[in-house]
Amino acid sequence: MEANPICLGLLFLIFSSTMAAISNAKTHYHDFVIQATPVKRLCKTHSTITVNGMYPGPTLEVNNGDTLVINVVNRARYNATIHWHGVRQMRTGWADGPEFVTQCPIRPGGSYTYRFTIQGQEGTLWWHAHSSWLRATVYGALIIRPKEGDSYPFPKPRRETPLLLGEWWDANPIDVVRQATRTGAAPNVSDAYTINGQPGDLYNCSSKDTIIVPVDSGETNLLRIINSGLNQQLFFTVANHKLTVVGADASYVKPFTTTVLMLGPGQTTDVLITADQLPARYYIAARAYASAQGAPFDNTTTTAILDYKSAPCPAKDVSVKPVMPNLPAFNDTATATAFSKSFRSPRKALVPTEIDENLFFTVGLGLNNCPIGSSPANCQGPNGTRFTASMNNVSFVLPSSFSLLQAHQQGIPGVFTTDFPGVPPVKFDYTGNVSQSLQQPVPGTKVYKLKYGARVQLVIQGTSIFTAENHPIHLHGYDFYIIAEGFGNFDPNKDTAKFNLVDPPLRNTASVPVGGWSVIRFVADNPGVWLMHCHLDVHITWGLAMAFIVENGVGELETLELPPADLPLC
Ligand code: C2O
Repeated sequence: MEANPICLGLLFLIFSSTMAAISNAKTHYHDFVIQATPVKRLCKTHSTITVNGMYPGPTLEVNNGDTLVINVVNRARYNATIHWHGVRQMRTGWADGPEFVTQCPIRPGGSYTYRFTIQGQEGTLWWHAHSSWLRATVYGALIIRPKEGDSYPFPKPRRETPLLLGEWWDANPIDVVRQATRTGAAPNVSDAYTINGQPGDLYNCSSKDTIIVPVDSGETNLLRIINSGLNQQLFFTVANHKLTVVGADASYVKPFTTTVLMLGPGQTTDVLITADQLPARYYIAARAYASAQGAPFDNTTTTAILDYKSAPCPAKDVSVKPVMPNLPAFNDTATATAFSKSFRSPRKALVPTEIDENLFFTVGLGLNNCPIGSSPANCQGPNGTRFTASMNNVSFVLPSSFSLLQAHQQGIPGVFTTDFPGVPPVKFDYTGNVSQSLQQPVPGTKVYKLKYGARVQLVIQGTSIFTAENHPIHLHGYDFYIIAEGFGNFDPNKDTAKFNLVDPPLRNTASVPVGGWSVIRFVADNPGVWLMHCHLDVHITWGLAMAFIVENGVGELETLELPPADLPLC
């Protein structure tokens, strides 16, 4: 029988286009050297821990489907790891990065090569150290463009600019957290916010280095905004310009237009901005969204300049100040809520409708009474206590002799227990006046086990212990749908009706409303050990974290890869 030439031709076409797609995926090799570097900010030079001497660190630019191979060498005097925030790390949990969770830290003088592939994610992510507070200065952008030949689901922007919002301390951030851990008090707040590492015109000794974002009249550009700050949710705005949100956390969203964004640490937002104003200079500005009543925060404002290249000379005169935008009040929860409620998936979302695991986690602070006989120097929290934090009353403690992933994969006993409670051990009025007896969590290295493929619903309920505040809750290894959020205590009888199972946004970090709750859903399709925590570093320091173990499924494609040969050991 003769082969049909048309079929053969078709077969060849299919074959060659598949080959083209495969051969288009690239592997990017990078060297990251973590090292102390002199960095001058706010009039003083510091010995700052950087990657390759850069602050912020290098921007990684890849296409969806590409592989990254990053050799990290630690030449600093601190333990270090790098986390690729938001990367799903399908079966490659060994490359996720949180210290003592998926690896032991890279010790000073050591190195480790992270290998992973970007699968089905497009937009803006970032990378940061995941050891103590090193990420204060060890972070950078990870830009994921569509596969070659694919395009954005919006008109191609003329230019693209990543804007990393950060926090700067006039002290060594590692000393700041060490002091807080010793005293039990809240750590000092930052001294400045930064945009791409620069505080901007409103700070001492800073204006000559203010970041300039050039535009030409009429063009539409993409800003990729990342809150890489440690401890503060931030409002972000550009004077006189509208922002059209097109993506967040490396997922596209149904475009919507706003004048102000709110990002919790960990979150990213991609916006289109059209240069449709009088040619001049306009401030890009960010400052705190401080939701906790009465708690100290850094109330300064960071700025960069949107600079129309076509601006007439007088506008260019540096004595003519750029146009300053109005920012929301620090406690403007209404604006933060309106913003987070605007997010939708661009199309019908694949939200699980049947649920195998119905979980409810409280998240919030706590106050430990000091043991009798302890030195007052170590009990500097409110009323002689020590600050702590917990999820479902467990204050998370990292192991020290093995990473959780290693202990799980090799069956090493005694490193963790699998009794993390799926619901609060005691029910109470979470957002009311919480009695003293419920304010002291139990320390523990407890994980929650999920079967491969389990469909999970998780209610994340903020508490008002000590103070209610907005918590940016981040889950490693997953994107999840945020199907609802609200204030007060979650009530299944009336709040279930509010679930958006049609087009909820897909995120890796949920901004849980102050004194309120968020409901998320995901399918446990990535085996490994995955940390979930508040992305305010002060809260993770106090134990606001837990980990999921997702078991292997059937066959190689549902099984965690073997650990790389150079995995750092403890
Ligand atoms: Cu940005 Cu544990 O993560």
